[in-house]
Amino acid sequence: TYVVTENCIQCKYTDCAEVCPVECFHEGPNFLVIDPDECIDCAACIPECPADAIFAEDEVPEDQRDFTAINAELTKKWPVILRKKSALPDAEAWNGKTDKRPLLKE
Ligand code: SF4
Ligand code: F3S
Repeated sequence: TYVVTENCIQCKYTDCAEVCPVECFHEGPNFLVIDPDECIDCAACIPECPADAIFAEDEVPEDQRDFTAINAELTKKWPVILRKKSALPDAEAWNGKTDKRPLLKE
């Protein structure tokens, strides 16, 4: 499966949701997650993310391994998103910032 990681937080560009051929992406206030039970490992979402926030599960950076569980958990509580919408207003400013994890809103 594929996993959304920290750099999506506060950006939420949503380009990923538009290209996914199945209904993987679920939307929270400032982050998207991938449903591990739906993802078919097509990799289409990877190059679409302006924040480079999506990784194959076995390529998630060491310090972000917990995002695999975070995706699986939050998928259950957030609604599916199928289309691109506006990114969060300060997405460009937040893109690439580190330590965004405490800002994740559930
Ligand atoms: Fe959707 Fe493919 Fe990305 Fe999985 S890898 S979330 S199926 S676009
Ligand atoms: Fe997030 Fe990138 Fe999608 S910033 S919403 S994973 S396009």
